[in-house]
Amino acid sequence: MASKNRSEIVKTLNLALEHEHAAAIQYFTQAAMVRGLMSDAFRDKFLKSAAEEVEHAKRLRDRIVTLGGTPTTRVAGIRTATKVADMVQIDADTEGQAAELYIGLLKRIHKGDDLLLYETIERIIEETLEDLEDYQRLLDKE
Ligand SMILES: [Fe+2]
Repeated sequence: MASKNRSEIVKTLNLALEHEHAAAIQYFTQAAMVRGLMSDAFRDKFLKSAAEEVEHAKRLRDRIVTLGGTPTTRVAGIRTATKVADMVQIDADTEGQAAELYIGLLKRIHKGDDLLLYETIERIIEETLEDLEDYQRLLDKE
């Protein structure tokens, strides 16, 4: 990979890592705060999403180090809510924005140059889109 492209990719991976840090904290906080009917089910879903973001962050750090970069410890902004419907709306937005970021990144990676990076991002996109679908489904009204 050309070094200019490599440093641009590392920059974007670090931006994505900031957002993964934020998303993990967002979901852990929601899991602790959720109240009301079905709160057990929501708590389980939020904890599952949090664990997934922790895993995404781990994969990003490994790719950043392999590319010669330093993984950021910064955390992107986090939106909070007290009502479960608002939490779920925030989560759908979060996953939608993450999917956009990763899809844009994937277009800039040449599969032949770095297959592991390419497939790591592809897998994160797949999991992010599944989560987005889950949160959109929860938002659907009759
Ligand atoms: Fe993620």
